Amino acid sequence: QVVYRSDYRPPTFWIDHVELEFDLDPHNAIVTTKITVRRNTDQPSRTLELVGEQLKLLSVSVDGVALNDDEYTASSDLLVLNDLPARCEVQTKVAISPVTNKALSGLYQTSGNFCTQCEAVGFRRITYFLDRPDVMARYQVTIRGDKSTCPVMLSNGNRIASQDLGDGRHEVVWEDPHVKPCYLFALVAGNLKCHRGSFTTASGRDVALEIWVEPQNIDKCQHALVSLQKSMKWDEDVFGLEYDLDVYMIVAVNDFNMGAMENKGLNVFNSKYVLASPETATDDDYLLIEAVIAHEYFHNWTGNRVTCRDWFQLTLKEGLTVFRDEQFTADQTSAAVKRIDDVAGLRAGQFAEDSGPMAHPIRPESYISMDNFYTSTVYRKGAQIIRMYHTLLGQDGFRRGMDLYFRRHDGCAVTCDDFRQAMADANDTNFDLFDRWYSQAGTPELFVTSAWDESAGRLTLSMRQSYPDLAGDLPGTKDRKPVPLPIRVGLLDAESGAELSQYNDVLLLETESADFQFEGLDRQPIASVLRDFSAPVRLRMQRSDDELAFLMAHDTDAFNRWDAGQTLATGMLLKMAQQAADGQPLDEPKLFSDAFAKILTDDSVDEAFKALAITLPRESVLGQEMDVIDPDAIHTAREFFRRSVAGSHRDQLTALHQSLAADGPYSNDQQSINRRRLKNVVLAYLVSLDTPETDQIAADQFSGADNMTDQQAALAILANSNAEQRIAALDEFHRRYHGDPLVLDKWFAVQASSSRAGALSEVRRLSGHSGFTIDNPNRVRSLLGVFSVNQSVFHQADGKGYELLGDYVLLIQSGNPQLASRLVSAFNSYRRFDTGRQELMLRQLKRIASEPNLCKDVHEIVQRALKF
Ligand code: ARG
Ligand code: ZN
Repeated sequence: QVVYRSDYRPPTFWIDHVELEFDLDPHNAIVTTKITVRRNTDQPSRTLELVGEQLKLLSVSVDGVALNDDEYTASSDLLVLNDLPARCEVQTKVAISPVTNKALSGLYQTSGNFCTQCEAVGFRRITYFLDRPDVMARYQVTIRGDKSTCPVMLSNGNRIASQDLGDGRHEVVWEDPHVKPCYLFALVAGNLKCHRGSFTTASGRDVALEIWVEPQNIDKCQHALVSLQKSMKWDEDVFGLEYDLDVYMIVAVNDFNMGAMENKGLNVFNSKYVLASPETATDDDYLLIEAVIAHEYFHNWTGNRVTCRDWFQLTLKEGLTVFRDEQFTADQTSAAVKRIDDVAGLRAGQFAEDSGPMAHPIRPESYISMDNFYTSTVYRKGAQIIRMYHTLLGQDGFRRGMDLYFRRHDGCAVTCDDFRQAMADANDTNFDLFDRWYSQAGTPELFVTSAWDESAGRLTLSMRQSYPDLAGDLPGTKDRKPVPLPIRVGLLDAESGAELSQYNDVLLLETESADFQFEGLDRQPIASVLRDFSAPVRLRMQRSDDELAFLMAHDTDAFNRWDAGQTLATGMLLKMAQQAADGQPLDEPKLFSDAFAKILTDDSVDEAFKALAITLPRESVLGQEMDVIDPDAIHTAREFFRRSVAGSHRDQLTALHQSLAADGPYSNDQQSINRRRLKNVVLAYLVSLDTPETDQIAADQFSGADNMTDQQAALAILANSNAEQRIAALDEFHRRYHGDPLVLDKWFAVQASSSRAGALSEVRRLSGHSGFTIDNPNRVRSLLGVFSVNQSVFHQADGKGYELLGDYVLLIQSGNPQLASRLVSAFNSYRRFDTGRQELMLRQLKRIASEPNLCKDVHEIVQRALKF
């Protein structure tokens, strides 16, 4: 049941060509598969084992001759053919039931349309196959379906034929000229409308761009189309990579387990990452759509043309593609703001994962369900590892490495080692030590101290790295060695705050510890360390609050300028949390409050940066810094801190909100987006004051907004307040938008993220609301997913939050294992809390573990948690 990386063996047969025929029917779809197989001479065996899942086998033949029952062995999940010739054609016919497929893996129905999701191992739910990414083949796909319910029938590649079948049905044939692994197969059929565009590649190929959506959404596709065109252009400009088919299709579906899927020539997307209009999508939604469209497009080269040999190599394509989409967004918007957003996300999600029972190297060693390893570690940390090659090599060196990678491996299924080797060889360097980043789990800590030698005019930075111990016995957490850390450093003059630019450097720490010296200084400077977050570590550097405030005011590196503020606030908040826990009065956050006011009037930074600089660290991130997380104390401290800062600057904030609100009609240029971002952070500060006047500012913004960004922000702020306008705003929002699933998700989400008293019983009540359903992953995530990361509410001391989540994990797991498994991961942090909460979380984990028919996805998470 457990799959190990070390067990990799090449397949006994290769598949050269695949011919699929689908006779679509919701309950009884018939899939006929002809595969041309060729024995792998390196793996002497005459046995071909094809895997399946929940398939009903109707017939099997070899080279046109039907096999008798004694010539093969078959179950619903395995078909074994013995004594096969070196080359032959195997034909199978199976029946499957898309409409009852609630797992949303394989062929299923969503809003009455057919669609597929095959990564990682969904193809086996469609037909018996060598469902592994190192088996790459050419595909021809014939789809037959009702003309009335399936006027549109799509698959990968080019449409080469179609015909009317007379009986109310029709047929379409698709051919994909590129070899691909089966996880990139896709089929979509149903009643869809197309928003069209085009792109001409650098070498002059005309590509038809098609965005397929349900008819009512046809006017919400333009942003996705433009995002695709920008992505195509960017990949040509930055990496010299062109698209390689005549058509690029994107389909938006409502029921989808993940964000989107890069199927060759036919991406399938969660509609959340396609559909946008100013009235229904926020600025963040627009940004996410652009990023996800880019991500899936970039996969065409990093993922599809060059794919993974086995699933342990997932970060080969995901880490690299996330890195590429991060660079893309940085180029479209602001590199500094993008970097800050990404690192904040990494710290909140990946750092927590890396210190709990799901800690794993970016290239895991084993899994029970591969779907559990589509993690922030593989994706986000993986992207940080790629970024370090980029930091060390520079853009040109990195590009040389990419070029060599494609020259060597185009059309192949390869490993993370192959990528590292290409990067090294193209630049005549050695990246062997980077191997440790792929095999070790956990977040390294980087300890930095500085020493000043006045007579020599020399500053010494002493650096030491180590991993914090991890409980349990997880692979990659024992005997860990130092990893290569590129550390971007700069020095600031301590009086003027000016950058001493001749000292800017990227230091490389490859050993456990090393000293780095800066000579020829007139007076003691202030060091800015780990600029741009040049390595994914926890920086441990003792600094006084004054020094942090200085960096917050002067650092020329925007990331570190922001981070100094976060560190300053974190230190003060943790102290206040302790005071709250001890029942003492809380300190006023004077130093931060002063810095706060200075940032707001600083003309050298844009509004998006200001918004980030005044946003306090999330409660969950503060929790990570405590030995025992005290969610109530953290919440009390953070609320007090915010109210205190708001109280000290009430007039300035009111005036600022007013001037930002006077911007005139909605516009989506970058400056307007930045100003809305700041406006809404300011509004949250104001409403924290809990006065009728400030509540009214939010209520006015809610009712007067001409765009979803302002409206949703005001609603979220009201939903988290005691404002008397709260209920009316929620009701009004529901009345207006209950017919639009993506906007209704927001209505659930703002309530699930509220931390007002009674928030938990509201979430319980909302789970019984007529608009709630466990069949739609977006809806489940917007209520239960959001609630489960709402620290002070989910971790309510009586355990009622845990009970609610436990109930739903059990309810969802039998139908949709992937979704349930994401939800149950909220219990992974249980060791970090007090014994009372630990007990209560353990009770839920044990309750779930004892479910007789527990799916393997949830089983894997729960048993890792229990063993930790
Ligand atoms: N490859 C997709 C992406 O990152 C994600 C698909 C994950 N699917 C899954 N069932 N875990 O773009
Ligand atoms: Zn991806």
